Amino acid sequence: MPSDRVLEEIKNRIDIVDLISEYVHLKHAGQNWKGLCPFHSEKTPSFTVSPSKQIYHCFGCNSGGDIFSFLLKYENVTFPEAVSMLAKKAGVTLKAAQKDTVWTGEKEVLLNMHRDAVSCFQQHLAKNAKADEYLTKRGITPEARKLFSLGYAPRAWDSLLTYLTRKGYKAEMIKKAGLVIQGTKGVYDTFRDRIMFPIYDLKGDVIAFGGRSIDGDEPKYLNSPETIIFNKRRVLYGLNQAREPIKKEGRAIFMEGYLDVITAHLHGFTNSVAPLGTAFTQEHGKLIKRFVEDVILAFDNDEAGRKAAGNAASILLEAGLNVKILSCPENEDPDSLLRKKGKEAFQELLQEPLTIIDFYMLQKQDKRLTARQAIETISRIPDRILQGYYVKLLSERLRVNEFFIIEELKKLKKTGKGENDKTPLKPSARTKPLNEVYIIKLLLQLPERADEISGFISAEDFRDPATRAVFGKIKEGVRDFNELLSQCEGEEKDFLTEVSMREDIENPDKALEDCMNRISGNKRKLLLQELQNKIREAESKKDFNLLKSLQTEQHKLLRIRGNP
Ligand code: UTP
Ligand code: MN
Repeated sequence: MPSDRVLEEIKNRIDIVDLISEYVHLKHAGQNWKGLCPFHSEKTPSFTVSPSKQIYHCFGCNSGGDIFSFLLKYENVTFPEAVSMLAKKAGVTLKAAQKDTVWTGEKEVLLNMHRDAVSCFQQHLAKNAKADEYLTKRGITPEARKLFSLGYAPRAWDSLLTYLTRKGYKAEMIKKAGLVIQGTKGVYDTFRDRIMFPIYDLKGDVIAFGGRSIDGDEPKYLNSPETIIFNKRRVLYGLNQAREPIKKEGRAIFMEGYLDVITAHLHGFTNSVAPLGTAFTQEHGKLIKRFVEDVILAFDNDEAGRKAAGNAASILLEAGLNVKILSCPENEDPDSLLRKKGKEAFQELLQEPLTIIDFYMLQKQDKRLTARQAIETISRIPDRILQGYYVKLLSERLRVNEFFIIEELKKLKKTGKGENDKTPLKPSARTKPLNEVYIIKLLLQLPERADEISGFISAEDFRDPATRAVFGKIKEGVRDFNELLSQCEGEEKDFLTEVSMREDIENPDKALEDCMNRISGNKRKLLLQELQNKIREAESKKDFNLLKSLQTEQHKLLRIRGNP
């Protein structure tokens, strides 16, 4: 485990706003930055990042922390992995011993294995005339093959298996990667006689493959199964190359297939990406929202493609993105269109994409069905203003009064459709005893008085476990906020980020006095109650000596109360 000094060094070199901006679209809000929380689904931003404190906190789902906790949660990695990733980013070298514990074995092995598999497939492509001919026929130039690291898996049962085994990988691990399949007589290559498309994550590691058959084998496209390094709902093909162009251009183009993306990049539309043969998911929406808010769908214009476009638009609108739809000529996809008509024709279509309303209006179907689909989609849009815009547009297109559309929207709300906030909220500082929250806030606000305050009260005065734990650490002498945060976990950490993010207390000295009084008042109340019980007991036992001493004590306490 890296030392505290190393962690400190990493923290000093990475600004939390920069880091989180790579994942969440943040906007300036006063002293802080705000965005839609990546950890729960919400319609208005409550995810807050503080550059001065170098922490984040979401006031919607009440979770918070520092750069390490963010990465841990977002990338779903272990603490040592998060440290390793951030160390790399910060240019801090970890000692070998630190590294060993850092990269938990399996993931690292799988990533290395995929890198080796890419080389294997590339070598085969270089010497296979049939594969070369196929790619040439489809206009995939040598530059494009290099840019996307395309390869070829030969028609054999153990080509990759042998290659990887010679490199020292165990059959068990190759199976875990999904690169071989267990048959009755042993394992054999998953991909045979296919053009291989490596799939990259955002760090630039290959995490899976897609393979297209070139001799009519079924299925036409075969993808790696999900593994510990590959969750296809969270990956977009081409995004590692497209991320910068997407940010620069301010919008992303979503396509359906690998070849659409490659052809688009070749023609200069480098902001194009595609899912991996799955429907678009909320995760895809969140993923792209790290970079941009405007997306254009450029799907195949066939029956299946139109249906997919409608669904994708609904899901992505629900994720809070502005979605427009490009209408390809009938039965074309971006790949075929670019090849037949060229860059300019595609550029022209990009200039005037359709709104989801106009897209539905173009469908050759009953207008009532169109209305229903459109209203359902509108109900999912989190932004009220955008929702209002679409209501108006739909009313104009259908030539009905907005009133009727709004009525239908209300009906959908009642039945619960179109609602998307599902994450149950965690207990927050609001549910904790106010005194205790105040004291912690005061301790953070007045660190110079921490000794005095914590000398006066004890951890037992706190009823809530999280406030008590945080207080205990301060009392033990942890004064630095960052150190305190790194010693807290789970609810304690969430609570700590929340209170420190809240506005400072206006008149801290007065507030402190009130808190202390209330705490000592509470203590007295408890003592008196206890005494009262003992007195009753002494009375019933007729133990007059005990009764007398108890009553003296009671009077003393009551006097203090009347005479503070
Ligand atoms: P398409 O069938 O539209 O393929 O599937 P395409 O992109 O036009 O490919 P070519 O031009 O025929 O080579 C679109 C995407 O759907 C997924 C793949 O990701 C593909 O790129 N798909 C398709 C599969 O996963 N499996 C299949 O059998 C077919
Ligand atoms: Mn297609």
